[in-house]
Parts: sequence; C-alpha cells; structure tokens
Amino acid sequence: MSSAFPLSPRTLFNYLAAKKALDSPVPTFPWYDSGWLYQYVAAKMLIERVRPKLLSEFMTTFDCLRTDPKFEVRKLDRVFNDEVMIQIRETIRSMPADANEYTEIEKFGRIVVHNHPFFTYLQKTVLPLVSELAGELVEPSYNFLSLYSKLGVCEPHMDAPDAKWTLDLCIEQSDAWPIHFSRIVPWPEQFAYQGEDWQTYLKQSSDLQFRSFSLEPNEAVLFSGSSQWHYRDSFPGDGFCHLLFFHYIPKGMDELVRPANWPRVFDIPELARVVGTHPKRSRVVRALRRAAKRLSLTK
Ligand SMILES: [Fe+2]
Repeated sequence: MSSAFPLSPRTLFNYLAAKKALDSPVPTFPWYDSGWLYQYVAAKMLIERVRPKLLSEFMTTFDCLRTDPKFEVRKLDRVFNDEVMIQIRETIRSMPADANEYTEIEKFGRIVVHNHPFFTYLQKTVLPLVSELAGELVEPSYNFLSLYSKLGVCEPHMDAPDAKWTLDLCIEQSDAWPIHFSRIVPWPEQFAYQGEDWQTYLKQSSDLQFRSFSLEPNEAVLFSGSSQWHYRDSFPGDGFCHLLFFHYIPKGMDELVRPANWPRVFDIPELARVVGTHPKRSRVVRALRRAAKRLSLTK
C-alpha cells in the first residue's frame, strides 16, 4: 500500500516531539569523554517526551554499567612475567611511525596507539584476573598504548561506560607519576558547576575523597573509570611515561555501551535524533556565548 504521506500521524508526532526535545537545552559537561553521558541524558529527555512509560526501563537497563559504590581501586604489583614485559617494550620500540596517533599531543602530551594486535592479545590473557578483581564477568572493550612525553597531563574526567573497568599498566618511565581516583560516584548527570576552574573545583572536593597511586614498571591499578573521577597532574620530570590501558565492560554489554545501537536495542527509532550528537558542538556554542559575554562587558 502506498501513501502520499509516508509517516503515520503517531510517527510524525514522535518526530516532532523529538525535535522539540532536541531544541530544549540538554546539559553539557566540560570534561573530555563526556559525550556518552551527554547522549544518555539527551536520550532520557527524549524518551520522557515521546515514550514516558519506557523511561524507567531504559534507565534500569543501564544498571549493569553502573559501579558498586563499595568497589575500591586495586593495585597489582606484578601483572606479566619479565619475558612479556620485554616483549611489550620491544613492540613499542619497533612500532612503525605510521602506527602512532598524534591527535592528543597538544591536550595530553602523548602519542597513542589503539588496539595493537599484541596488546589486544595480552588484554585477553588477563580477563580472569580482571573479572575477579572487578567482581563480575567482563569482556575486552578496547585498549590503547599511551606514550606520554615530559608534557604529559591528564585533567580530571570520567570515562564513558565502554571503559567501565580499566587496567592501567606502567610499562616504562623516567619518573613515577601519581594518578588520583575519587570514590565511586553516580554518573554526574547533574554536574552543574559552571566555573572555568572546574578542574580545581573537582580536585579540591573533599566529598570525592581522592586517593593517589604511584606505579612502577609492571605494576597496575584496576579502577572504574566511568564511575570514578581520575586525573594526573603535569608530569613531574623531564622524561617520559609509557602506559598501557586495557578497558573492559561487563560481559554481554557490547551492544548497550554504544549509543548508536539504542534506537534498535530499545525499539525507539526516535532516539536516532539524539544519539550520535556530540557535546563538542555545544562546547563551541558555550565558547561563543563566553566570547559574546566578554564583548558585551567591554562595550
Ligand atoms: Fe580515563
């Protein structure tokens, strides 16, 4: 049956409602890697408008990606044997220049390499250990090698849940470089601090109970990056720090951690209007607003 008008009145209503939801302000967050949370909040706002009865189910479906508040960072004194550590360092030294990704030199002072086959293999070998320490069965999500220079820094942030669990392994370094973790907190959907000094605000928040860990080569920490604020201050020395990050998700959650799948997973096609959007665009808007404000002050 063909129709001159391809959308049913109900579908048309939903799309118009979704458009209206998108036009209303969706909160954005200042830390890097907040795009997932932005999409989650936008999706909730949209569902509340177009399918309010499904909102509760949508939210509880993500419970397995939240972290038990009782979890504490685990320090590992020796992850691999000496032979494997030598292999890792040899792999780094013999890596072709075109394997390196240079997009994070300015912001982090680091070169990264994602999902190298040898590191992907190693990530799988420690699955049982990570499952035991995390207190749940996990599967690999992604990994990356991080070659920090003396300009290294990692400002406070919270990861997306495709990195619910992270094993941060020290490979080689010129100086020990502490990493700081908050306690487990709920996803900061209500993060409202608007100051330009939001990093200092977070670091000095006594409620977050930051703890510091220093790693030596072949030592690692397992933490829950999507429910713990974490950061490294500017690198303390004049040398380097090479770290390997193995990210894991609860077993079977591969579909759910990717917002692009949500319209299909939840059978809510209208969600396609909000997933795939990125807060960077909103950051540009905020920067323009700040510029406009400064101009109006100088008038
Ligand atoms: Fe992180």
